Amino acid sequence: MATNPIIETMLNRKSIRKYTDEMPPEEVIQAVVRAGQQAPFAAQLCSVLLTRKKGVPFGAPLLFTICVDLHRMEIIMNRRGWKTVTNDMSILVFGIQDASLMAENMVIAAESFGMGSCFLGAAPYIADKIARKYKLPPRVFPLVQLVMGYPAENPPPRPRYPLNFTLFEDDYPEYSKNDIDQAMQQMDEGYLAQDYYRKGKIKIRLEAGREETFTYDNYSWTEHISRKWGQWYASPAELLVQLAKRGFLVALPAEDETE
Ligand SMILES: Cc1cc2nc3c(=O)[nH]c(=O)nc-3n(C[C@H](O)[C@H](O)[C@H](O)COP(=O)(O)O)c2cc1C
Repeated sequence: MATNPIIETMLNRKSIRKYTDEMPPEEVIQAVVRAGQQAPFAAQLCSVLLTRKKGVPFGAPLLFTICVDLHRMEIIMNRRGWKTVTNDMSILVFGIQDASLMAENMVIAAESFGMGSCFLGAAPYIADKIARKYKLPPRVFPLVQLVMGYPAENPPPRPRYPLNFTLFEDDYPEYSKNDIDQAMQQMDEGYLAQDYYRKGKIKIRLEAGREETFTYDNYSWTEHISRKWGQWYASPAELLVQLAKRGFLVALPAEDETE
């Protein structure tokens, strides 16, 4: 496989969950966000809020909240005498694309300055709380948060599926039993070799009626991720309500689910 300093930086990246106290210089913070801005965009449907050092998770000095932002777009459209007719589902998908690309550019920019980062995925589910904290106007939806700073740990990069389980040329393949075995083995053995779940004391609890048979000696990624999607978020209501509160009407929630 070909390599170069940028590829090496990307392949060495890992989420960092322990930080030093050091505050990155202002010009570094600006460069990270500016590099984020330069990501490809559909319509610049994203903006970023920054909090420095106030109870940021993992002791990180910086917390970015990356938002899908239609508010700013609509101000500009209004100046031009236009109103949005695009449905909110389409707008939201474009906004998620824009915000995600910007966020990942920021991650790589941080790496280039010797910093680390970690996404926090709860934002959409606590969008109302974040909106109050940052005084977000309607039509701004917090998509994801990103902590950033200088690492106080240096874990190995985490495993990924084999490349041939992700890159398919021309046609989508029919998987053989062996393809699946290999992919699951690469993920599970990779995480077990790092003792990732034991060190992080991360084991998703089984809901009522299911007996726990795993220990940290065999609990690994494929079981972990299966427990998530096998138990959580059965209803879209919670998210639809958060979106509706932020002014995105993706679907009309039933009246008794809006409180
Ligand atoms: C959208 C998103 C949400 C995430 N949310 C969390 C989170 O809430 N807490 C956390 O510790 N890590 C979170 N992560 C980090 C992932 O756990 C991590 O990227 C994944 O396990 C792969 O590990 P790596 O980043 O070290 O390669 C999130 C990552 C993404 C992309």
